[in-house]
Amino acid sequence: MIRPILIHPDPRLKKVCDPVPAISSELGKLAEDMLETMYDAPGIGLAAPQIGVAKRLIVMDCVKEGAGDPRPMVLFNPEVVWSSEDLNIYEEGCLSIPDQYAEVKRPASVAVRWTGLDGVAQEEQFDGIWATCVQHEIDHLNGKLFIDYLGLMKRQMITRKMEKLKRERARG
Ligand code: NI
Repeated sequence: MIRPILIHPDPRLKKVCDPVPAISSELGKLAEDMLETMYDAPGIGLAAPQIGVAKRLIVMDCVKEGAGDPRPMVLFNPEVVWSSEDLNIYEEGCLSIPDQYAEVKRPASVAVRWTGLDGVAQEEQFDGIWATCVQHEIDHLNGKLFIDYLGLMKRQMITRKMEKLKRERARG
């Protein structure tokens, strides 16, 4: 089921999310909905708070369309356990901040530990776009958006655009 994606500014996007104590079939269904919502948008990552669920759960698939088999990933309680000193700059966007893009500098590689859908702990190193995506999504679980890395003026400009977009959408 495709879920509505919250648009910034929204207090639900600013909250620190709760850890998931145990994987249930209900949470499996939530992850499935999130993947469906992400692919439909389309996007390469989505965090639970973006659909109004304050739980530490993200989904992602950074395989470019036509560049190979999709790799849908579901990460419960993801945690960065190592970051490279090397940094990388990517132009980031966010499904909660439609049509706005900005360059963000982050560690080029990160090792992440998480619990999978099967309840088993996993760890993997991510590089390139995957590293940026997983860090961007984990930020969401801590109430942080990519625009929080920008200067105040740029951030306020984007926020005002989003407020206008929300008013227009509310009017239908
Ligand atoms: Ni985002």
